[in-house]
Amino acid sequence: MTSINFTLGIESSCDETAAAVYGGDPPVFFEKVARQFDIHSPYGGVVPELASRCHLEAVSLLVTETCKEADIELDDISLVAATAGPGLAGALVVGLTYGKSLAFALKKPFVAVNHVEAHMYAACAESNIEFPFIALVVSGGHTLLVDVKDDLEYTILGRTRDDAAGEAFDKGAKILGLPYPGGVSIEKTGKSGNVSAYDFPRALKERKSLDFSFSGLKTSLLYFNEKNHDAPIEDVCASYQQAIVDVLVRKSIFAAIKLNRKNIVLGGGVVANKKLREDITSAANKKGIRVVLPSFNLCTDNARMIAYRGNILYKKRGADDLKTDIFPMFVKKCNQGL
Ligand code: KG4
Ligand code: ZN
Repeated sequence: MTSINFTLGIESSCDETAAAVYGGDPPVFFEKVARQFDIHSPYGGVVPELASRCHLEAVSLLVTETCKEADIELDDISLVAATAGPGLAGALVVGLTYGKSLAFALKKPFVAVNHVEAHMYAACAESNIEFPFIALVVSGGHTLLVDVKDDLEYTILGRTRDDAAGEAFDKGAKILGLPYPGGVSIEKTGKSGNVSAYDFPRALKERKSLDFSFSGLKTSLLYFNEKNHDAPIEDVCASYQQAIVDVLVRKSIFAAIKLNRKNIVLGGGVVANKKLREDITSAANKKGIRVVLPSFNLCTDNARMIAYRGNILYKKRGADDLKTDIFPMFVKKCNQGL
């Protein structure tokens, strides 16, 4: 096995193209991210074909710039890691093909990374966390509660039965006429609002189930909005956000108590939400449970978590074949767990 000094991570699963270099002693990250918010904003959501084109334009330049910032040459890269799925097919193809081609040209090992796993373990890149822990992964496409036993072994305890938490934010914002991405808009607009002004439903409240459901909440906002045009938007946003946060907090703590885990580790774009960060920390601490939150640049889509995860996977189970293909859907893959 080659000794790894610098891992290059590439992320292109949705609407962010990112390149990161992870290495040095002690290891540090260098990263460049190209966001596509302005491109997709007029459509109120991500347009897959536009996303692929933007990735294609950005990826090579981002890798060059990241290496420059890390003060390394391409030849100094000892491992290339790229997201293989889940995500938008056309978008994944761009980053994965670029990563595999670069590894081939440099004659360096390649590792395919599962994006959801990368979110799940992202906080480990900057905090010392003992296994086992409960992971709450909340992104635009996924909402999962996971019992994480080590770097390669974990059990999914619960998942959303319909919309993901991020999707609930995005669709809610669309209903209210707020700009994409919805999570950021709802948080910003609701900042000065009253969280208990309106009582939106908390689905699957019963403590036994570790599954989530957010589509009823979205529908209730739709009906509420049709009937209450004059309701102060800041109160609507604050109350709607609180309904999502309450369910995430309650289920995570229930899972930790049920499995007697002392740490809850969060990952995914929705973890950028301040109310979620505050509420879960204070509720868990009251029960003697520690909450580990990734810093903001490790929450939303990034290549740091891909480089970090790629590095761990390479050390634990070696390189992947260059024939490794994308997997757009959230399916069980050998070696990749999900
Ligand atoms: O992890 P991520 O960047 O991409 C996926 O893997 O899906 O997550 C994106 C999701 C979007 O739904 C976005 O609205 C949400 O994360 N998000 C937020 C915030 N920032 C991003 N949700 C709530 N509050 C935020 N501050
Ligand atoms: Zn993500």
